[in-house]
Amino acid sequence: MYNSKITGLGFYVPEHIVTNDDLSKLMDTDDEWIQERTGIKQRHWIPEGSEDTSAVMGAKAAKIAIERAGLTKDDIDFIVFATLSPDYYFPGCGVQIQDMLDMPTIGAIDVRNQCSGFIYALSTADQFIKTGMYKNVLVIGAEYHSNGLDKSTRGRGVSVIFGDGAGACVLSQTEDNTKGILSSHLHSQGKHADKLIVASPSIKHWVPEILASKEEDISYFPYMDGTFVFKNAVVRFSEVIMEGLNTNKINPDDIDLFIPHQANLRISQFIQKKFGWRNDQVYNNIMEYGNTTAASIVIALTEAWEKGKVKEDDIVVLAAFGSGFTWGSVIIRW
Ligand SMILES: CC(C)(COP(=O)(O)OP(=O)(O)OC[C@H]1O[C@@H](n2cnc3c(N)ncnc32)[C@H](O)[C@@H]1OP(=O)(O)O)[C@@H](O)C(=O)NCCC(=O)NCCS
Repeated sequence: MYNSKITGLGFYVPEHIVTNDDLSKLMDTDDEWIQERTGIKQRHWIPEGSEDTSAVMGAKAAKIAIERAGLTKDDIDFIVFATLSPDYYFPGCGVQIQDMLDMPTIGAIDVRNQCSGFIYALSTADQFIKTGMYKNVLVIGAEYHSNGLDKSTRGRGVSVIFGDGAGACVLSQTEDNTKGILSSHLHSQGKHADKLIVASPSIKHWVPEILASKEEDISYFPYMDGTFVFKNAVVRFSEVIMEGLNTNKINPDDIDLFIPHQANLRISQFIQKKFGWRNDQVYNNIMEYGNTTAASIVIALTEAWEKGKVKEDDIVVLAAFGSGFTWGSVIIRW
């Protein structure tokens, strides 16, 4: 068995910033409500006319990660792409990356685990490296939310939360079995699928039926039972972090950095308080980017690393919860 460690990180967000005040011109909302409930001050949305998509942004982030790993695209053995907003119903974004980066005909898979997407993708890549099948796996999380949101007052409970962006890392084989990904823990509970969902178009409710409804059917917009999601998130985050720490016999006090999926600053603060972590032990950037779903953890990890907040030998805890429900954690010794 081999260990895997992150050798390169990168992220890309569209330049176009949408503030809470900008949103209040589109819908009945205000900066105070959004900041108080979510912590979000602004998000980046792909502007009209841009060529950016989930795959395009993913490719931009991936190029940075590969370069920082000291590798070239020809060194990558496999691609894992996490997104809930793929460019196409099929094929997935992973194969687009293979083409966009002009890579050899390596394998590529898409992971469909929403806010937990990056955790699932990282864990998947880790298994391929642990068995010795691959040496360098490119892991990408990217989301193009803005084109699929209901930007009227009707959709304000969901639309103000989400932002566009992409992050990527290269996971590489290492001989040092004391470093890298120590463990990953993945969970799901499908009975709550309808609490956070984009229900259509689905193969059982296809486009002609939606069009025939003459705009009454809005099941193609995201639906979220925010209070229910919040309550489940705080419980599952805590459980899965504890599971990871217990597996590795790590005391919560001894972690160096916790990077939660950026769902809501209130959720992150609740978890921080529960574990008694200081501010310097937790990294949040939802204020600047909103919730970028599968991209959020890897964008935050990249930023934290760029700011020198992730150092050799640090214990880094990543955790996520989201639609499915799905949740998971990854424990890393850097
Ligand atoms: C979405 C969320 C911020 C909403 O906060 P909340 O306190 O639960 O608010 P509610 O949905 O109960 O709405 C309270 C009121 O604010 C209104 N409201 C909703 N969105 C609003 C907005 N953007 N601006 C102003 N008012 C808004 C509602 O209509 C409601 O009004 P009413 O009381 O007159 O009916 C919160 O539930 C949340 O963060 N949930 C988890 C979300 C999450 O983590 N999602 C990602 C999963 S990974």
